[in-house]
Parts: sequence; C-alpha cells; structure tokens
Amino acid sequence: MLAQQRVVTRRQQGGFHTGKACVRPTRRTAIKTTATLKVMISGAPAAGKGTQCAKIIDKYNLVHISVGDILRDEVKNGTAAGKKAKDYMDRGVLVPDEVVVEMVKSRLAQDDVKKHGWLLDGYPRSASQAEAIEKEGIRPDLFLLIQVPDELLVERVVGRRLDPVTGAIYHLKYNPPPPEVIGRLQQRSDDTEDKCRVRVATHNANVGAVVGYYKDVMKEIDGTKSMDAVFEDISAALDETVTKKDPLEAYCKDQPAADECRVYE
Ligand code: AP5
Repeated sequence: MLAQQRVVTRRQQGGFHTGKACVRPTRRTAIKTTATLKVMISGAPAAGKGTQCAKIIDKYNLVHISVGDILRDEVKNGTAAGKKAKDYMDRGVLVPDEVVVEMVKSRLAQDDVKKHGWLLDGYPRSASQAEAIEKEGIRPDLFLLIQVPDELLVERVVGRRLDPVTGAIYHLKYNPPPPEVIGRLQQRSDDTEDKCRVRVATHNANVGAVVGYYKDVMKEIDGTKSMDAVFEDISAALDETVTKKDPLEAYCKDQPAADECRVYE
C-alpha cells in the first residue's frame, strides 16, 4: 500500500530532480531507459556486432558509434583520413591510431552522445587504443564480448549482404533478404575468405590486451546462438547494468510528467 510507505524525494536520496513524477514500487519494475549508459561491444569479424547494435539502439536508444562504418564513410568520401585508412582496411589489418583515436574521441565528445549515452562498436582494438581513452577518463559501464569460434566466422563473412538504402545486414543463409531488396544488396570489399582470415588473426592477436582493461565490467556473450537468443542475453546484461548504475533514474525516466519525483520505499 502506497499510503503506508515512506516517501523520499530524489533530492533527499542525493539523486537529481528530473521534473517527472516517479513512483518506484519496492519490487523492481522492468527498466527500459538507459540514461547515459556507456557500452562497448567487441568480437571477431562477423561475430554479430553490427546485427546486435541495430537491436540495442532500437530498444535502448543509445548512440551507435561504429568505427568501421565511420572509416568506410571516410573512404567513400575520399577524405584525407579515408585515403590513409583504405589500404589497411583492404588488407584486413588495423588502421593506425593516428587516424582512429582522434576520430573516436571527437565523436564521443558530441552532444547527442553525452545526452543519450553511447554504444561503441569496434573500439578499442588494441592496448594503445584502450590506453588513449583511459587517459581521457573514458570507460564503459559494460564491455560486451561476443564469442564465436573462428570456423563459423568465414561462413558468416562470405554470406553477408548489406542494404545500402536501409543499412540492414542480411545473411544469405541465416538472415535471408526479402526478394524486393535483393537487387540492390552490396558485399563489402573485405568480405572474402582470405581477408576474413587476416581480420580474424588481427582480432585474435589483440583481443587479450583489450579485455585486460575491462575485465571488471566485461560480459561474455555466446554468439553462436540465434540472433534473437544472443539479443536476449545482451538485453539481460544491459538491464542489469542500468539497474546497477542508477535504478532510480532509470525508473523515473519512464514515468509521466508531474511536479515532483518521489520514491516510495
Ligand atoms: P568493422 O567494420 O568493424 O568490421 P569487423 O570488426 O571485421 O566486424 P564486421 O562488421 O565484419 O562484423 P560484425 O561483428 O559487425 O558482424 P555482423 O553483425 O555484420 O571493421 C572493418 C575494418 O575497419 C577493420 O578490418 C579495420 O581495418 C578497420 N577498423 C575498424 N575499427 C578499427 C579500430 N578501432 N582501429 C583500427 N582499425 C579499425 O554479422 C556478420 C554476418 O553474420 C551477417 O551476415 C549477419 O546476418 C550474420 N549473423 C550475425 N549474427 C548471427 C547469428 N547469431 N547467427 C547467424 N548469423 C549471424
């Protein structure tokens, strides 16, 4: 019964006042919002990072920062950074830090990211990249590592097709495209078996060092399950992180507007 419960305002709890009504039941309710959640997603080439990022941003409203996508745009637009990056990407090895690090730091400093939180996809990929953002005090609340055995990755890479109009990621076998979009689908230039093997080797050589920075917030995800099952596991990890980070803020944000934000305990 609410009448018998103690009322505590957010100020009394040391939280900030959102200007929204908030009635938090003693028992936790499902939390959908993420406030300024900071998430990194890592995994080998074709582990399913891009596929899961699309689902995550749809549900959690984070800003998706895909370093691979940013680099491909730079290449497409013929910028100085793109010209430097192209050869490395074609070979399936890491683009030098001088191109990537500033790119990521400046994107993370933008207003939309500060407001909605971030989902950093494909960074850091080396100890030096992790070190560069550690120095800036940039750390994730959650580090997701999608694990898929090497032998599955090649099949996923060569079967991948991208829709340039919607950005959707398909797979000829595991996520077949609808007939009406087939004619416009594209294949990435680095999605060949040979290049995939180099990319996987690059990942395997570096992932241990990167993980060392984030062990305390790391969650390993079994990426061999179906796409929806993988997303269920990721959602569970995200929900747990949101609850730990700020359960009150999380709950308040879903409530209708009113004068005061209250917590009933
Ligand atoms: P990037 O674009 O980041 O490529 P990647 O890491 O190799 O990852 P992918 O995009 O290939 O795979 P994904 O994990 O997103 O898989 P997806 O969801 O599409 O980087 C490209 C290059 O840029 C690098 O090689 C490097 O040169 C450079 N670069 C990037 N970041 C850098 C950095 N920080 N520093 C330096 N250089 C950098 O899924 C793959 C396929 O599998 C799809 O067809 C999908 O439908 C299917 N699939 C997904 N999940 C499942 C599932 N659960 N079951 C069955 N099929 C599935």
